Amino acid sequence: MTDEQPRTGTAAHGADDPPAEDPGAEARLPPGVTDPASLAAALEQHGYLADTGLATAAYLACTLRRPLFLEGDAGVGKTSISQALAHLLGASLVRLQCYEGIDASQALYDWNFPAQILHLRAAEAAGQVAGTQELETQLYDRRFLVARPILQALETAPSVLLIDEVDRADDEFEALLLEVLSEFAISIPELGTIRAVQPPLVVLTSNRTREVHDALKRRCYYHWVDHPGFAREVAIVQARLPGVGERLAREVVTAVQALREQDLLKPPGVAETLDWTEALVALGADHLDADRATATLGSVLKFREDQERARSIDIAALVDRTLATGQ
Ligand SMILES: Nc1ncnc2c1ncn2[C@@H]1O[C@H](COP(=O)(O)OP(=O)(O)O)[C@@H](O)[C@H]1O
Ligand SMILES: [Mg+2]
Repeated sequence: MTDEQPRTGTAAHGADDPPAEDPGAEARLPPGVTDPASLAAALEQHGYLADTGLATAAYLACTLRRPLFLEGDAGVGKTSISQALAHLLGASLVRLQCYEGIDASQALYDWNFPAQILHLRAAEAAGQVAGTQELETQLYDRRFLVARPILQALETAPSVLLIDEVDRADDEFEALLLEVLSEFAISIPELGTIRAVQPPLVVLTSNRTREVHDALKRRCYYHWVDHPGFAREVAIVQARLPGVGERLAREVVTAVQALREQDLLKPPGVAETLDWTEALVALGADHLDADRATATLGSVLKFREDQERARSIDIAALVDRTLATGQ
C-alpha cells in the first residue's frame, strides 16, 4: 500500500460530500457526566437503563477513548446502547452490520465503477483524454470513492461507529478491523491514506455465536451484557412502552425471567419482553393470565421446541408461583 499522498480526515472530502459539521470535534461526554453513575443517569434520559457494570464500561470507553466490546445474548441491549450514547454525545451514529463474507469493499470503501466508466466515456467523447497517467488521476478521484461505514465514521466528527454482530463476520474481517482500530486510518492505494482527525467512539457487539479473536478483544474494553434484573427490566418496559400498567409489566417480566431459567434453545431477551407486553396490550390485557400467556407465546419464544417446553411447564402456574413468592 502506498502512502505518498497523506490525506487527513474530513479534509479529504470531495466536492459532493456533505462537510462534517465540526471537523475534528471529539465525541465528548456532556458537562455533568463525570462518573459511571452520572453517565447512567444521562443515558436514562435517552431511554436507556444501564446497570453499574455497563455504565462503568461505557464511561471508561468514552473517557479512555477505547473501543467498547459488548458481548451477550441477543436482545439484551447491546445495539441500543450505542444509539443512546450517540444521542448523548451529540454524535452521528454510523452502523456497520456484519455478516458472513463481509469484506473491505463493504466495510471500508469501494470505487464507484459505473460513474468512473461514465466519466471515461465523457472524457473520450470530449477528446479530453490526455494520457494514461492523467486519466488514472481523474478516475481515482475522491468523488468516485464510495465511503462505506468505517470510512464514513472516520470522516465524520464527532461520531459513534457501531460494528454490530462482529461474530457473524469471518476471521479475515477481524484482522482488517484490528488494523483500522489501531490506526484509525485507511490506506487507499490509488488515493493515499485517509486518517480520522478525531477517532470515532467505537462500539463492537457480539452475540457470541462464535468466539471473537483475543487480539481484537485486547484492543477493547470488554463487557459481558447480562439480562437485566427484575426491577431494571420492569423499568425498561415502562420506559420503552409508556402507558403500560405496572401490574402487566411486572407479570410479563416475571414470566420472562422464569422462562430464562428454563433450558430453552433461545432464552428471551429484553426485546421479547417488550414484544410480549405489546402483544398483550394489543389484546386489551391489563394482566397476564394462563390463557393469554399461552396464546401469545409466539411473541416471546420463536422455536417450536421452546414453545412446547413452555407449555409443558405450565407457564401461568410458574408466574403465579413466582408472584406469590413476592417479587
Ligand atoms: N437497558 C435497556 N434500556 C432500555 N432499552 C433496552 C435495554 N436493553 C434492551 N432494551 C431494548 O430491548 C430491545 C433489544 O435491544 P438491542 O439493543 O437490540 O439488543 P441486542 O443488540 O443485545 O440484541 C431494544 O428495543 C432496546 O431498546
Ligand atoms: Mg443487536
